[in-house]
This record gives sequence, structure tokens and C-alpha cells, in this order.
Amino acid sequence: MADKRVECITKKIASYPDFPKPGIVFKDIFSVLADPPVFKDLMVIFEERIRAICPDVEIIVGLESRGFLLGTPLALALGVPFVPVRKKGKLPGELKQVSYKLEYGTDVFEAQANSVKPGQKVVIVDDLLATGGTMKAACDLVTSLGGAVAVCFVCIELVDLKGREQLTKPCDAIVKF
Ligand code: PRP
Ligand code: ADE
Repeated sequence: MADKRVECITKKIASYPDFPKPGIVFKDIFSVLADPPVFKDLMVIFEERIRAICPDVEIIVGLESRGFLLGTPLALALGVPFVPVRKKGKLPGELKQVSYKLEYGTDVFEAQANSVKPGQKVVIVDDLLATGGTMKAACDLVTSLGGAVAVCFVCIELVDLKGREQLTKPCDAIVKF
């Protein structure tokens, strides 16, 4: 049976053709965040699915920057630490890094070396899976820290871009376009 909450979230996601480059249809999560009942439903669905798929999650990793918006309330709701994966040059201390390609460019991700303890069970959260380069890089980075990536969660998956094929970890998406 269709989940009415997912239907509402899907309708709320705004699309912007040719942003930030010609040929890209930008899917905007901020139109969901601007509607408190729909945003609340999104966070409840995330929480339900994580509790079902990975009840013993120990850390939520969120990906800069839109992944922070979903990952931090989720970590609070689940009562587990939030760990940021950030773009190069933003985090202090000893770091691990990985470079990656995304749908419209390249970037470098970093995480603090001691932010995940060896063997800890990690769920990675982001707003959107496109080509999968970002999520794959995050999985590699968390693994290099010693974490065990249990599952990746996104709000939006752009199915035609086949990002899922880049991943060696399970990935759950709430809305598929
Ligand atoms: C966007 C989005 C995902 C990534 C997905 O982030 O939030 O993290 O692209 O693309 P991919 O699957 O092709 O790798 P972006 O790097 O634009 O950063 P932002 O969240 O700071 O806007
Ligand atoms: N990140 C990568 N591709 C994207 C898209 N089409 N819309 C929003 N964020 C993205």
C-alpha cells in the first residue's frame, strides 16, 4: 500500500531544470524543509527505516552540506553521535581524506581520524543519490576510519544515474525519480 507521507514528500520536492549546469535537473530538498509537517514526516520515516534495518546503529555520519540537515535531527532522535564528513579544509585536527566525482564536478571529503572507533556500526545519511560518487567516497572514508558501514540512507534517488551500482553497501531511498 502506498505511504501517503511519501506521496506528500515527493510532491514537495521542487525541480529546477538546468541548475547548476545545463542538462542537470536539480532536486531541491529545501522545499521539504520549509514545510514543517512534511519535514517531520520525512524524519519519522528515516527513523523508522533505520530502526528496522539497523537497530544497533552506533553512529550517524552526515555528508556536507545537505546531509547535515537530515543527519543531525536523526542522530538526536536515535540517541547516537553525529559525525560530519566535510569538504576539504573545514575540519581541524588529524584527518583522513578521499577525493571523488559527483554529477557536476569533483571534490575532496575529510573526516576526523578519531571520529569513528574501529568496528563501530555506521549509517551514512545524505539528501540525494545521483551518480553515487559522493556516497561511495563517504563509504570508503568511513571504512578507512575503521567504521563498519551498515547501510546508506538518502531522501532522493535519481534512479537513471545508477548511483546504486557504485555502492558495495546497501542503500535505502525514500523517494525515487
Ligand atoms: C549533492 C548532494 C549529494 C551529492 C550527490 O551534494 O547533496 O551529496 O551531490 O551527487 P552524486 O551522487 O552524483 O555524487 P553537493 O556536492 O552538491 O553539495 P551540497 O550538499 O553542499 O550542496
Ligand atoms: N546532487 C547531484 N545531482 C543533484 C541533482 N540533480 N539535484 C540535487 N542535488 C544533486
